[in-house]
Amino acid sequence: MEKQILESAIPNTATQSDLVSTILPGLQSCPKYVPHWYVYDKLGSELFDRVTNENPHYHLYRVETSLLKEHTGSIIRNFDESSIFAELGAGNSSKMHSLIEAMLEKEGSLRFIPIDIAKEFLEESAKTLNEKFPSLNLQPFVGDYVDGMEYVKSLQGPKLFIFLGSSFSNIPMAQMLPFLQTVRNTLKGNRDRFLIGLDITREPEIVEEMYGHFTFADFNRNVLTRLNKDFRANFMQENFEHYANYHKNNDKDTKGLMVEDPEYIELGFRSKHRHTVSLDSVGTKIAFQEDEIFYTHVPGNMSMKWDWQQFEKLANLAGLVTDQLWTDPGNKFALGLLKADSK
Ligand SMILES: C[S@@+](CC[C@H](N)C(=O)[O-])C[C@H]1O[C@@H](n2cnc3c(N)ncnc32)[C@H](O)[C@@H]1O
Repeated sequence: MEKQILESAIPNTATQSDLVSTILPGLQSCPKYVPHWYVYDKLGSELFDRVTNENPHYHLYRVETSLLKEHTGSIIRNFDESSIFAELGAGNSSKMHSLIEAMLEKEGSLRFIPIDIAKEFLEESAKTLNEKFPSLNLQPFVGDYVDGMEYVKSLQGPKLFIFLGSSFSNIPMAQMLPFLQTVRNTLKGNRDRFLIGLDITREPEIVEEMYGHFTFADFNRNVLTRLNKDFRANFMQENFEHYANYHKNNDKDTKGLMVEDPEYIELGFRSKHRHTVSLDSVGTKIAFQEDEIFYTHVPGNMSMKWDWQQFEKLANLAGLVTDQLWTDPGNKFALGLLKADSK
């Protein structure tokens, strides 16, 4: 039987005029930018999959997947057949396989709600999950993280919210604390948990290789492809160079870092020369200067690099506390299970 896909009103599925009002102000601001979620249409999600599979420097996928496999038993220990697992920014949910398999083996059933804004990609991922796990009670939700959490909060049963791929690090800094407060307010029952994966790699050479690799550049370039489609625009790939710049706090003790002073990547393009781009669907032209940086995220942090204590400080402010924490032997990645504080 075809399973129903739930949808919320979000930019990716909204009308053209909503898209214009969401994206155009960033293109016309100084510096110019598009929000990071914009890269994730179907093609962008496929290109991101290539990053995870073909970029030899992108350890996030491999290390996090093996941490999840290794600690499956501890993660699912307190959940039973009435539980709901909801994955924020699910993508193809491939990292979830070990948890799903273990829950089906232990309890015989699981309600799983992958939440993502990339509608067509989520639909395809749902087909694959249905084929692989026919007994899974799968209910994809197309929409923003926050809308998805709101929906899941209204359901009965212990809940595990899962946020993998260090995707939290792509949330603009000013929205991080409010986001974690929303998570905190969503954890209602005493078995409810929030599982988060964070990249804690700080060696500049590794970070630069990860984000400078051609698979990452191709993924980033999908922003120009999508703009051309959505705005009948003429962004020329050859006029823009992939830009990935790592902000390292060399002179600081990383353990003492404040959340306001993080290490992060800036991602976007450098305009190779002065030129003008036309956006025909909105009758607008946009001028680029030579060497101008055009960001593919809200200017500021992107792919932030943490240490766990730094993240924990922010989580504590939001009313979340660490229940369990796992890292790999190379200390490249942290997988943390959090719960609501007892206030
Ligand atoms: C870095 S990928 C991670 C994919 C997968 N969870 C993993 O760990 O490999 C981020 C995913 O989040 C989705 N996404 C980005 N912004 C979102 C938002 N605001 N609400 C819901 N999904 C979002 C993207 O479409 C993409 O699938």
